[in-house]
Amino acid sequence: AGMWRGLIEAYRDRLPVDAATPVVTLYEGNTPLLPAPALSERVGADVFLKVEGANPTGSFKDRGMTMAVSKAVGAGAEAVICASTGNTSASAAAYAARAGITCAVLVPQGRIALGKLAQALAHGARLLEVEGNFDDCLTLAGKLAQDHPVTLVNSVNPDRLHGQKTAAFEIVESLGDAPDVHCLPVGNAGNITAYWMGYGEDHVAGNATRRPRMFGFQAAGAAPIVRGEVVREPETIATAIRIGNPASWAEAVAARDESGGLIDAVTDDEILAAYRLLAREVGVFVELGSAASVAGLLRTGADGRLPRGARVVCTVTGNGLKDPQAAMSNADTPQTIPNDAAAAAAALGLS
Ligand code: F0G
Repeated sequence: AGMWRGLIEAYRDRLPVDAATPVVTLYEGNTPLLPAPALSERVGADVFLKVEGANPTGSFKDRGMTMAVSKAVGAGAEAVICASTGNTSASAAAYAARAGITCAVLVPQGRIALGKLAQALAHGARLLEVEGNFDDCLTLAGKLAQDHPVTLVNSVNPDRLHGQKTAAFEIVESLGDAPDVHCLPVGNAGNITAYWMGYGEDHVAGNATRRPRMFGFQAAGAAPIVRGEVVREPETIATAIRIGNPASWAEAVAARDESGGLIDAVTDDEILAAYRLLAREVGVFVELGSAASVAGLLRTGADGRLPRGARVVCTVTGNGLKDPQAAMSNADTPQTIPNDAAAAAAALGLS
């Protein structure tokens, strides 16, 4: 009982922390596991959304960042650094601000959703726009962390994955067992790795009788794992997952194979269709990258790879407000009317 005080306090005995670890938290975690009847009907399964956009900075990255920043501060770090397609930078900046340390951020120039850029800057990050893509930024960040007194907080930092595995713990607690299938978007492949670790630990601990099949989805223009080779110039409207050489590639393949799952590509059109469906029929506004999990759900539901009647969880990783430009360019332009009831009624087609 008592109030929620973040995932380190909630799962302290299952995380690599001890009594001396300073807890840097914004009370992340404990996100909704929301039934999605509109999706269940479409695919003939029992579908839930793990709504990670409900975290403090609007994405699942907060789960990893409370751990990474707490451990960094505990080890005496005065600065953290990350490469990012946007969400990691927003989260790192917020947790660094909370801890009173410096945050440096490397992002691909012109390829970050506006809301994410605004967050990182609002929280006071030292943000550099790099003439290159995410993979280039990650290489640079790794080099800087090696040569300078600054801790890397990308998902290559194992503390990040431990934080993110707690989403699986929450799902098992809510459902009373693991689901049959878990769908999620794959970018740098840290999150699918973390969920697989979390489900595995729950299984070993006896909290779940089984582990789910992991279904990961990359954007078609940025699908190195599906293609089996690095994509030098990844391209997709889903900028969050515009990644051509994922850091946790091998771990994602292991999660797929050990679980009897799959990693497939979804097109930008499928991502957009899922994005609209989620907003208009499920009532959940996510960012484009997050819609990849639901695009994959719909694709595997249609082609028969998703078992009928299965219990399925789709992680929707980030809030739709992260990317107002994507929302506006996929919506009708609002009509302007005079300050007049009759004009409003006419414009709305009210009889
Ligand atoms: N969804 C969103 C909204 C993301 O921001 C990311 C990754 C992913 C899915 C993919 O997760 O990388 O663990 O496979 N964003 C990172 C970032 C790369 O910098 O914010 P992953």
